[in-house]
Amino acid sequence: MALRVLFVCLGNICRSPAAEGVFRRLYPACVTDSAGTSGWHVGEPPYAPMQKAARRRGYELSDLRARQFQSGDFDRFDLIVVMDADNLENAEALRPAGNDTPLRLMTDFLDEPGTDHVPDPYYTRDFDGTLDLIERAAQGMRSVASSQA
Ligand code: 4NP
Repeated sequence: MALRVLFVCLGNICRSPAAEGVFRRLYPACVTDSAGTSGWHVGEPPYAPMQKAARRRGYELSDLRARQFQSGDFDRFDLIVVMDADNLENAEALRPAGNDTPLRLMTDFLDEPGTDHVPDPYYTRDFDGTLDLIERAAQGMRSVASSQA
């Protein structure tokens, strides 16, 4: 069965939809989704400057809508990939008893170690820097993406 991967950030309007957009184009056989640990932007499309920066590289994000990460996501996905340590802690706190779905930092998949989070361009305004990092990490997920669930 196709691998189901969920990307998680705080607002689900910048980093995780960008990761979803990159990943789904690289690995169309996978089932891909994204969510935010907060409910601040539920129902909204990705942040306009993020969409614009992604579109310049050929990633269309306009169909995506923010939703909040929930406990049940641990059972609906084979792999959950978060953007920073806060996301990791907040997501882990919702893990159902007995669930062992892998929960990983996106930066774990980089070819070179030394980066421990995906910077939030909502604050840094460096949308292209974040996309560069996400593209590199997504390339590093190649073997994961081709594994069977
Ligand atoms: P994201 O960025 O977690 O990459 O979607 C954020 C977007 C909005 C806010 C925080 C982070 N906010 O505070 O509204």
